[in-house]
Amino acid sequence: MTALLDVEGLDVAYDGMRALQDVSLVAEAGTIVALVGANGAGKTSLLRAISGLVRAERGTIRFDGDDITRVPAHRIVRRGIAHVPEARRVFASATVRDNLLLGAYVDRDAAHRAARLEAAFSAFPILRERLEQRASTLSGGEQQMLAIARGTMSGPRVLMLDEPSLGLAPKLIPQIYAGVRAIAEAGTTVLLVEQNVREALRAADTAYVLQTGRVVLHGNARDLIGDPLVQQAFLGIGAA
Ligand SMILES: Nc1ncnc2c1ncn2[C@@H]1O[C@H](COP(=O)(O)OP(=O)(O)O)[C@@H](O)[C@H]1O
Ligand SMILES: [Mg+2]
Repeated sequence: MTALLDVEGLDVAYDGMRALQDVSLVAEAGTIVALVGANGAGKTSLLRAISGLVRAERGTIRFDGDDITRVPAHRIVRRGIAHVPEARRVFASATVRDNLLLGAYVDRDAAHRAARLEAAFSAFPILRERLEQRASTLSGGEQQMLAIARGTMSGPRVLMLDEPSLGLAPKLIPQIYAGVRAIAEAGTTVLLVEQNVREALRAADTAYVLQTGRVVLHGNARDLIGDPLVQQAFLGIGAA
C-alpha cells in the first residue's frame, strides 16, 4: 500500500543550524499519526517543511505518490494538505461563520462548503451554536475548535495540527480530541503534533518520537505508551 503522505530522509536547517536530520515518516490514509517530542525537537519544522513554508535541504516529501518537496506553500493547500499552526490564530473580530468560510477559500463551491460546515459541526457541535458570534467571544477551547474546523474547510485529505492542546485547561482536551477523532473517522488523515504525549498517543494510530531533530522511535501508538523511553522521557514514569 502506498502511504498518503511519505516523508523520506528530510533535513531542515535554519542558517546552518540543523533542526531536522534524516527524518522519515509515513501516514496511511484515514489514520491519525502523532508526532511527539519536547519543545525544540523539530515538530513544527516538519509541519512547515510539508506545507512548503521552509525548504528541505535533503530528502523527499511525497503526497499521494507525487513529489511535493519543492511545491510552493499556496499550492500545497490546494493539493489537499491543510496546516493549523500553533497558537490557534482566529480572526477575533469576525464571526465564527466567517472564520470557517475563510478556511474554504480554495474551494468556493456552495455545496462543498455546506457539506464541510456540517462535517465541522458534527466534530465540534458547539460551533453551530456560536455561528454568528465573534470569535473573540469564544473560550480558549472553543477558539481551538474553530481553528481546527477552519482547517477542515478546504476539504483537505491531510490535516496537520500543531499542538492543539497547548495552553488549554485539561478538562477541555478530551473535547478537542473527540473532534479530531471524528474528523479522522470521516476520512481525513490527521498528522498531530504534540508535547502532550499521553493524549496524543491515546488518540493516534501510529506515532513518531522526535528528539533533537531525529526520529528515535516509531510504531503503534498504544505500544509506544508502554515503551520505557517514552515513559521516562515524557510520562514521568520509571527511574530517571
Ligand atoms: N525560524 C527559525 N529560525 C531559527 N531557528 C529556528 C526557527 N524555527 C525553529 N528553530 C529552531 O529549530 C529547532 C526546532 O524547532 P521547532 O521545529 O520549532 O521545534 P518544536 O516544534 O518541536 O518545538 C529549535 O532548535 C529551534 O530553536
Ligand atoms: Mg512547535
